[in-house]
Amino acid sequence: PRKIILDCDPGHDDAIAIMLALASEELEVLGITTVHGNVGLERTTRNALVVREVLGKSVPIYAGADRPLVRDRISAEAVHGVSGLEGPHLPTPTGQVEPQHAVHFIIEQVLRYPGEVTLVPVGPLTNIALAMRLEPRIIPQIREIVLMGGSIDIGNWTPSAEFNILCDPHAAKIVFGAGVPLVMMGLNLTHQTIAHPERVARFRALGTRVGNFVAELLEFFREHHVQRYKWDGAPIHDACAVAYLLRPGLFKTAMFNVEIEANEGLAFGRTVCDYWRVTGRQPNCEVGLEVDVDGFYNLLLERIARYA
Ligand code: BDR
Ligand code: CA
Repeated sequence: PRKIILDCDPGHDDAIAIMLALASEELEVLGITTVHGNVGLERTTRNALVVREVLGKSVPIYAGADRPLVRDRISAEAVHGVSGLEGPHLPTPTGQVEPQHAVHFIIEQVLRYPGEVTLVPVGPLTNIALAMRLEPRIIPQIREIVLMGGSIDIGNWTPSAEFNILCDPHAAKIVFGAGVPLVMMGLNLTHQTIAHPERVARFRALGTRVGNFVAELLEFFREHHVQRYKWDGAPIHDACAVAYLLRPGLFKTAMFNVEIEANEGLAFGRTVCDYWRVTGRQPNCEVGLEVDVDGFYNLLLERIARYA
């Protein structure tokens, strides 16, 4: 199995990404690391513990950065609710977070398995950037970074910027400039995965506790997307990064140069994608363009059904 570290800020779609990863024998999840983002670090970490509890799995969880490198912290309670995981009943987690800091864990694991560890960040990139700065020797040893963030076109938090990148544009600049093989699942792709009510009903129809949990997450997550975008459901952004590792054939991707705008201004936090190759800059990022959305949902359902 492929060794991954899932770096996340749960979050409804983060929770589903965790479920997909932990249900899949193709992946060995070395650990889950948490970061500030959708809500504060204390809550994203608690939510990771809650999801682990719901799944009955035993993966270690490490808490990371509680704020961005330079800018002020922003968060998304308006989308994910106060807890960050509103909707289903959330059990009180019995397990604990590991004492080691997420950034130290990432460094330790990459150095322990040189060339083998894939990082899967689906929140702000603060932990990954800090790990690269604290121990630059990890940079050539990271197998690949497959992330959810950015967009080749419109943003969601500003007209230019996607939330994860906007949360910490300076961290994103470090990560996109590191020269590590990079795959970006941005909004242009994830917005193809709308969980409309018929799709939600398929999770409920599994008749399992975890199937219901997913349905309740998606029902709450839908509300904001109906109001803001007039869509019939929420995209399951973060699960796209994990699904890509499991079934790359479901995705159409292409190499582009992607640079991060880290200057404050209209385009702060934008992933500037040289789609028409007008800059002459070297492609540094494999960008998700299209997903076979039925294939994506079939995969997700098949894996969620494993939690009987
Ligand atoms: C991203 O922002 C968060 O709200 C989601 O969890 C996802 O990672 C989408 O812009
Ligand atoms: Ca997320």
